[in-house]
Amino acid sequence: MAVLVTGGAGYIGSHTCAKLLNCGKEIIVVDNFNNSKPKVLEIIKELTGRDFKFYEADICDKTALNRIFEENGITEVVHFAGYKAVAESVRKPLMYYRNNVYGTSVLLEVMSDYNCKKLVFSSSATVYGIPERVPVTEDFPLSAINPYGRTKLIVEKMCADLHDSDNDWNITLLRYFNPVGAHESGKLGEDPNGIPNNLMPIILQAAAGKIPQLSVCGNDYPTPDGTCIRDYIHVEDLAAGHIAALEHMKDGVQVYNLGTGRGYSVLEMIETFKRVNGVSVPYEIAGRRPGDAAECWSDPSKAGRELGWEAESGIEKMCVDAWRFASRTSQFPTIK
Ligand code: UD1
Repeated sequence: MAVLVTGGAGYIGSHTCAKLLNCGKEIIVVDNFNNSKPKVLEIIKELTGRDFKFYEADICDKTALNRIFEENGITEVVHFAGYKAVAESVRKPLMYYRNNVYGTSVLLEVMSDYNCKKLVFSSSATVYGIPERVPVTEDFPLSAINPYGRTKLIVEKMCADLHDSDNDWNITLLRYFNPVGAHESGKLGEDPNGIPNNLMPIILQAAAGKIPQLSVCGNDYPTPDGTCIRDYIHVEDLAAGHIAALEHMKDGVQVYNLGTGRGYSVLEMIETFKRVNGVSVPYEIAGRRPGDAAECWSDPSKAGRELGWEAESGIEKMCVDAWRFASRTSQFPTIK
């Protein structure tokens, strides 16, 4: 009766592993450390006082997955393993299709062979493309504007097709808004290999002096301060959403937005970060980034009604926890 967590050493995966262990679940973790580090596994054990089995393997490796299922009584899978950098997906689409789409199809085949038909999948608000209005509900039209987004959309459709072919499957698709923050201990957080693209890791780099300043991508959007508005969600709240999803698994393919239901602008994030952490965050106003929506924030009420879940932390805590993690570690590469 174990839960397999793919990508369990990653940012959201590691926080979810810690929560699953704290709930008394047995977990098996598989990760290839493509965008994570082995020491995270030790930190999860230290924080929870619990041990778990780990396999260093790629989800595209069917032989390895077969062995993992053969050796363990896996009843449910929480599937995080995937690439997530939009710009990289434009440069290397095949790498994204292979890992995110083919890798997931291999995982689903092996699950099917071992009659393990309960899946929670890391989807993303990216499947809404540029939403026509806000807040975004789960029934909004879906589209993708880059290869990364298309891989998420394809996997969502693949899950629906799979369920149509075999009604025994229970699949929950969790559409994350903008995950930020870190574990309160300051020991787990977002620790990407390479140069980050998302706002919070770049704020952290600017605050730490690793980059001279951050570029605010556009201040001429139709929003109160002209900068884009997003729904930032604390990674601990997001992790809790996976526990709720596992507890409320039901027939069919269920889809939930995991967001706070509140939007903040880029400038509000920067100002809040500065205020709560007492640090300066140098920035300049730059041009728009292609493909950015002016506003994207969720209506998370379906998850509230059906999963009994709602986000608890506000942006102050997100900023404090993110900075605690970043200032404890010197993980950020210096950009030249
Ligand atoms: C981005 C992706 C989205 C993906 C998500 C994964 C794009 C267009 N969207 O979402 O598909 O699911 O990451 O984590 O890449 N910003 C700046 N300066 C920066 C970086 C960001 O001003 O240096 C702004 C952006 O314009 C945006 C906001 O900060 O308005 C948040 O950006 P980001 O963290 O990249 O998230 P999304 O764009 O929402």
